[in-house]
Amino acid sequence: MEWTKEQRYRTMDEVSEEEIQALAKRVNQCPWRQSFHIQPVTGLLNDPNGFSYFNGEYHLFYQWFPIGPVHGLKHWYHTKSKDLVHWEDVGMGIEPSNEFDCHGAYSGSGIEHDGKLYFMYTGNTRDADWNRHPYQCLAVMSPDGSIVKMDEPVIADVPSGYTDHFRDPKVWKNGDIFYAVIGAQRENETGSVVLFQSKDLVDWKFMGEVKTGLGEEFGYMWECPDYFELYGQGVLLFSPQGLKAEGDHYQNIYQSGYVVGSAIDLENIELKHGVFHELDRGFDFYAPQTTVDHQGRRILVGWMGLPELDYPTDKNGWAHCLTLPRELTVKEGKLIQQPVDELKLLRGEKVETNLMVESETICLDNFKGDVYELLAEFSDSTAEEFGLELRVGEYEKTIIKYDRVAKKLVFDRTDSGESFAKEFGTVRKCTVEAEEFSFRIFVDVSSIEVFVNDGEEVFTGRIFPGENSNGIRIFSRGGETNVQVVKWDIK
Ligand code: FRU
Repeated sequence: MEWTKEQRYRTMDEVSEEEIQALAKRVNQCPWRQSFHIQPVTGLLNDPNGFSYFNGEYHLFYQWFPIGPVHGLKHWYHTKSKDLVHWEDVGMGIEPSNEFDCHGAYSGSGIEHDGKLYFMYTGNTRDADWNRHPYQCLAVMSPDGSIVKMDEPVIADVPSGYTDHFRDPKVWKNGDIFYAVIGAQRENETGSVVLFQSKDLVDWKFMGEVKTGLGEEFGYMWECPDYFELYGQGVLLFSPQGLKAEGDHYQNIYQSGYVVGSAIDLENIELKHGVFHELDRGFDFYAPQTTVDHQGRRILVGWMGLPELDYPTDKNGWAHCLTLPRELTVKEGKLIQQPVDELKLLRGEKVETNLMVESETICLDNFKGDVYELLAEFSDSTAEEFGLELRVGEYEKTIIKYDRVAKKLVFDRTDSGESFAKEFGTVRKCTVEAEEFSFRIFVDVSSIEVFVNDGEEVFTGRIFPGENSNGIRIFSRGGETNVQVVKWDIK
């Protein structure tokens, strides 16, 4: 079905309870509903927003188009958790409602101030000729959970030199001063990030563009910037649009990644840094956002999806989910991403084995499932390649392997199930040189997240296998490999 502009910009007041109920029914009949990932109750989810620890709980919102699997009038949907694992659906968080956000409460961030949680987000508006004008808006959540919007935007104008692609404020505090990075497009249609400063989150002063070493030829728009410091180093994370595929890099429609350097020089607004790294080497990952919690951990959540692609769940009236939360650390100029420790709370019944695999594929009979955590450690290999096949059915399999000859990790979803986004390829690879490999893998009904060697690389992807594709196989080709495997059912 084609969605008209009118259909995409209906407000929730114009949608009847019956329509929502009928949609929820279709959504709940979908065989690919996830079991331990945050997913939309109905409609489309995209960027994580307002991620924060406040008043003893984690709050995590997502960009939400409630009434179908397309991008339209965006809301913030609110979820919360005490442990980053079990999430409660709270309901509507921020609803577009006034002249400053009438065409969408777009992405933004949360920060605690004076005992309340402040959200700074982009109000998207369009005029009669469909020209865009963005406002940066503020909403405040009290400890009782009620959210009130401020009447006026806190940044009403785009600084000169930039287009109306100006959005996604991410706020942090340094001493007594608040700073915000905002994704911007220069008038020459190249991507950048600008910096604002405030004492009270209400009055914001434009400081200038963040000078980076990436120059003016690194995509046409940088969405969802995030800046933070880890062990004294500065990390700028953003989602550039318009990078060309290059070898194993930039294979998805849009990218997200980061640079690491010395802490940002706030006087000269400059970040000296190393090369740009992609955060995830898989297929479905975009617009991540981080927060820091009461234990001082830096935690990242991403959108497990991409703009402008059709997904197999669309026909059931919903699309996308968020990734699992990952704890970030930094090592030799690169981020290390590990699933937060609390995810062990999900571990149920356990099976394990230790074996030498030789020149064939071994079916592990007592290893089966569609929702589980699996840890596979490979060592002492003389093989050309070794790895795993998951969600194996008569005609289906999802492959995670290491090609020892090419020294590449490979994630192959060619035969994973119902295919989609094939024009962007069905295999992702990245070069890693190591003798031993550990794959810590989280499999949900329609996704897989692979953390390689304690988070040095991560591969994330949606897969849409048949419900009987539950097999797990191990292989070592052209030689033998020692493998230790542990699998936990997820409760
Ligand atoms: C990224 C993005 C943001 C914007 C939001 C709208 O996916 O395009 O730049 O704020 O989604 O939903």
